[in-house]
Amino acid sequence: MNESMTLESACGASDGESPRGKSVVTAKVGEEVSPKVTARLAERISRLAASPIRDILKVANRADVVSFAGGLPDGESFPDLSLETISQQALQYGPTEGEEQLRDWIAEDLTKRGLSVAADCVLILSGSQQGIDLVAKMFVSDKTKVAVESPTYLAALQVFNLFGADYTSFCPQSSDKLVDGSPALTYCIPTFQNPTSYCYTKAERQRLASACDASGSVLLEDDPYRDLVYDQCDRQPVCSYLKRSEWIYQSSFSKTLAPGLRLGYLVCSPSLYPTLSWLKQAADLHSNRLSQQLVLSLLQGTDYEARLGKLIVRYRKKRDHFEALLQEHFSDIASWTVPAGGLFFWLKLHSARAIDTRELLQEAIARGVAFMPGEPFFSVPRDAASHIRLNFSNASAQQSSTGVKILADLFRSH
Ligand SMILES: Cc1ncc(COP(=O)(O)O)c(C=O)c1O
Repeated sequence: MNESMTLESACGASDGESPRGKSVVTAKVGEEVSPKVTARLAERISRLAASPIRDILKVANRADVVSFAGGLPDGESFPDLSLETISQQALQYGPTEGEEQLRDWIAEDLTKRGLSVAADCVLILSGSQQGIDLVAKMFVSDKTKVAVESPTYLAALQVFNLFGADYTSFCPQSSDKLVDGSPALTYCIPTFQNPTSYCYTKAERQRLASACDASGSVLLEDDPYRDLVYDQCDRQPVCSYLKRSEWIYQSSFSKTLAPGLRLGYLVCSPSLYPTLSWLKQAADLHSNRLSQQLVLSLLQGTDYEARLGKLIVRYRKKRDHFEALLQEHFSDIASWTVPAGGLFFWLKLHSARAIDTRELLQEAIARGVAFMPGEPFFSVPRDAASHIRLNFSNASAQQSSTGVKILADLFRSH
């Protein structure tokens, strides 16, 4: 597929009213879909759009482009792979719920983090993205109210859009209207949020839990960044503060071990578990057993904690280097908060008029740098302009130095 066409479809002018992309029929530029097939598509397909990030990544992965676009871990931090610990039984079909010892490890770990769960409430996922899909299938149909932070993780919006969500947004800092009305589902990323990297305070965690309890909204807490912590902050799961509401908590091995393993997990209130595991069964029977056994052997290895410690040191250093570069090149044209964890800087560009940052992406790539425009992260488009997200974990120090300067020159000239 022609890359520039793909990018245009992902980042070109939207309808201006909604973060929902155009229908799949028009979003796939250059592909002819016969009217006969269009007439047979399921109604929900009209709400499906390509993920902007995955389309940008296709371009950004070129060797001549410095990419700050994706949430990619540093490839040099990936664990050495050894298949010696994997039993041949891993090649056989396995249980939908996941490998028993891995579920035990996760339940024990979450209990230490303040979320007391039994192993039989753990469902292993093929990446935590699958958890969003399963939960959306369970709770979201046309016009279902879903409360989200605005901005929020764009691939969660992609899933909720597909099922027909009607958004209401909340902000952890403005306490009284945390969850507006009675949304069926509340989706939050309280620890090192994507894209803002914000980390809720303890009071904000408790307030969100009380708001869900009061409204009866089911809470989906998405927590893939919690272990990438550079400065101290409260990280106890919001779900642990709930008294009445049903909940799902999920996390991932993508950011701390390797995303190519495609392994994550969810835990949930016991009453939700059977439906979620049947949905998982219907989707893919079970997650890859080789990945599960590999992850288990890494988690049980004597050096797991030391490995995580080293990763944190590596990323803290990268964050500090990136912060110094931003201070040098962006301080007169943007503002931001130094992230206490996670993988992103979220910049608000200073400008008399709102900037649609998608319009600058083509030119940035032509100059050899990719960034993530802020617009697709917003469920409320009117708040969207003039933000960009920059990932600091993947590029080398040298690439970051070059790329940040190029980007600052580009934004300054506009
Ligand atoms: C907030 C959030 N949730 C879920 C995911 C999906 O992660 P994975 O499917 O690799 O576990 C990501 C990936 O970047 C993310 O940022």
